[in-house]
Amino acid sequence: MSKPGRGGSDSGDAGAQDRGTDVQAVLAALDATDTAALAEAEAGDYIAQLSEILTRADLAYHRDDAPVISDADYDRAKRRLAELEAAFPALARPDSPTGQVGAAPSEAFGKVTHAQRMMSLGNAFSDEEVTDFVGRVRSFLGLGAEAELDFTAEPKIDGLSLSLRYENGVLVQAATRGDGTVGENVTANARTISDIPQELSGDVPEILEVRGEVYMSHADFAALNAGDGARVFANPRNAAAGSLRQLDAEVTRSRPLRFFAYSWGEVSAPLAETQIGAVKRLASIGFQTNPLTRLCHNAKDMIAHWALIEAQRASLGYDIDGVVYKVNNLGYQARLGFRATTPRWALAHKFPAETAWTRLNGIDIQVGRTGALSPVARLDPVTVGGVTVSNATLHNEDYIAGVNSNGEKIRDTDIRVGDWVKVYRAGDVIPKISDVDEAKRSGAEQPFAFPETCPECGSAAIREPGDAVRRCTGGLICPAQAIEKLKHFVSRGAFDIEGLGAKQVEAFYHDDTLPIRSPADIFTLKARDDANIPKLKNRDGWGETSASNLFEAIGARRHIPLARLIYALGIRHVGEVVAADLARYYGNWASFAAEVDAAIPAAERHMEADEAVLHERAAAASEGRRARVSATRDAVLARAPALPGEAVAAYESLINIDGIGAVVAQSLCATFAQAREREMIETLVALLDPQDAEQPDTEGSAVAGKTIVFTGTLEKMTRAEAKARAEALGAKVAGSVSSKTDILVAGPGAGSKARKAADLGVEVIDEDAWLSLIG
Ligand code: IVH
Repeated sequence: MSKPGRGGSDSGDAGAQDRGTDVQAVLAALDATDTAALAEAEAGDYIAQLSEILTRADLAYHRDDAPVISDADYDRAKRRLAELEAAFPALARPDSPTGQVGAAPSEAFGKVTHAQRMMSLGNAFSDEEVTDFVGRVRSFLGLGAEAELDFTAEPKIDGLSLSLRYENGVLVQAATRGDGTVGENVTANARTISDIPQELSGDVPEILEVRGEVYMSHADFAALNAGDGARVFANPRNAAAGSLRQLDAEVTRSRPLRFFAYSWGEVSAPLAETQIGAVKRLASIGFQTNPLTRLCHNAKDMIAHWALIEAQRASLGYDIDGVVYKVNNLGYQARLGFRATTPRWALAHKFPAETAWTRLNGIDIQVGRTGALSPVARLDPVTVGGVTVSNATLHNEDYIAGVNSNGEKIRDTDIRVGDWVKVYRAGDVIPKISDVDEAKRSGAEQPFAFPETCPECGSAAIREPGDAVRRCTGGLICPAQAIEKLKHFVSRGAFDIEGLGAKQVEAFYHDDTLPIRSPADIFTLKARDDANIPKLKNRDGWGETSASNLFEAIGARRHIPLARLIYALGIRHVGEVVAADLARYYGNWASFAAEVDAAIPAAERHMEADEAVLHERAAAASEGRRARVSATRDAVLARAPALPGEAVAAYESLINIDGIGAVVAQSLCATFAQAREREMIETLVALLDPQDAEQPDTEGSAVAGKTIVFTGTLEKMTRAEAKARAEALGAKVAGSVSSKTDILVAGPGAGSKARKAADLGVEVIDEDAWLSLIG
């Protein structure tokens, strides 16, 4: 293997020596320092310096063929950086030159659009949630308690997922998950993994995408970290990810990666009729499948198998973080289908979090994009489940005080600076503090006074009734909120602009020559740079290529999928799933915006009613009496003057969208009603060319684009399944009948909805007619 060395033991030219001195100075300083004792800020500085040195060295070597530092220095710098990243994982950058977290420069690998999306899994943390899951599946499928419903249960491997495409039994492509839709092409690297067959044995479908997990065993991980390699990885998962995403496939070959197959994507012919059958088939054609995969007949069996796997967890020799349950019957899986990002037919039952005790050194307040003031615990670094933790969330002021939002005690004492606290981590979730050791108190611990002004902009920070968090009222004048909004805007599920990550956004925000202070500024960046005298390409850290790549990447994102655009706006309660639902329902930006605007008066009326109710209840409580009977939202609404029918209809169709309720609707309307926010959104959208929502393949569908309401009892399928089928055929399913309803499907027992449909002249059909309509 050729080392990505910098050209011999010493490099000759003067420029090289300058930078060589940089690296030596940094390395000398680090040699004189105990890495573990570094403060986080210092570690951050070192990480930044080393990353820059290594990135420059890589560019000089690979792009310019003009090495600037010696092999030995390069290796030492890389090793130092890896050590720092292992000690301070939170500081490791996704684009780190060690390649151990996230991707190597992503343009290095070609992009692959998955023929079928790679999904994630819903999580459960308790037995009860498993029972609920089984109940949900039964009810979706309309199965009675006696009907047979089996599940497979298998370990959830803590590695990274990989999709392998075989055509006529020959491996033609391997791709990482990426964002689920588009991944990275790592075919050359995957070919070096011995668990991955190049050719399949026996009779296999012409097209077969096999999915599974790449992982590294504990023993191999320990040997890799102890070896003479220039890298120290924080845990086997990072080691596996870093090893797979190597530009040089020979590096991957030298790493002991393994692969378990557990699922599939596109297949030209079904593998089997059951999940367990398909897994057996995968094993028979040459894949490793997990030996702890079992068939379970009910929730009790599943939980028992979970306990059995958990008991073996420490001795398995590789990391797992839970058990995955999957509906065994593949026909049922097809009927159950998917929510936005997860299948309805599978569930990950996680193991309890790992915990450790450490000292709380301080509490900092961070201001998020919605203005929420979040307390962050600064801790003495401690290892929890193989990862060093030095920060943890403390949720909100109630949590620190030791009460829940109803004022009930959740703990015997408050959390004080100087306390011994118990930290836990569950999977990828941010570390949290679950307990305080009161017995260890010396008396010097300081109770925490939660600030009532924003630490970033000084505006009042207030807590609305019913809100668990205190929020800065500074809006976009608060730099922290503006920056967080921008970071969200460019994040992965949102605009995801290559070359414009959180770090760059923050730098541009503070830049006076070429500032980005609102999302629209991103799309005027090039025009402004063209008009400027000092050009971006001439700045430190930038060049002709990087600047033009950035402008190109921004330009390409003007044509943005509607769901991403809605999500990117960073509206409270509008996450990726809700944004996808809204996009699917409204189809294009113009109807979405028009409908939200139209719904504003009704949403405001509802919010006022809710406030009046809260008020009355609070007044009653403080006077020691019961709240008036009229203190309900409906009663207040009934007393208010009538609203235009259009507003009511728009609001109702909004809250009737599956998965969207009053909370989302009110948050959307409140945002659109604020003149400044609305103007910002308009300015942004005027610079974009939003794509209409992808409609499901509705060729031959008689119901595409129609609004359907189901009522009464359905006998051939459950309501949930009927809805999912209708949506898959491009129909919109609403919860109540309005002038917008096209068809009411009424089963026995249909009541007021059928009458309303008749009044409005809406077509009413029975279940059989519905089934023949959808074929
Ligand atoms: S099934 C459509 N089975 O967990 C369902 N996933 O949290 C596809 N994972 O992205 C996933 N072990 O990377 C499945 N036995 C297993 C798994 C497993 C690990 C990973 C996979 C997935 C993630 C979701």
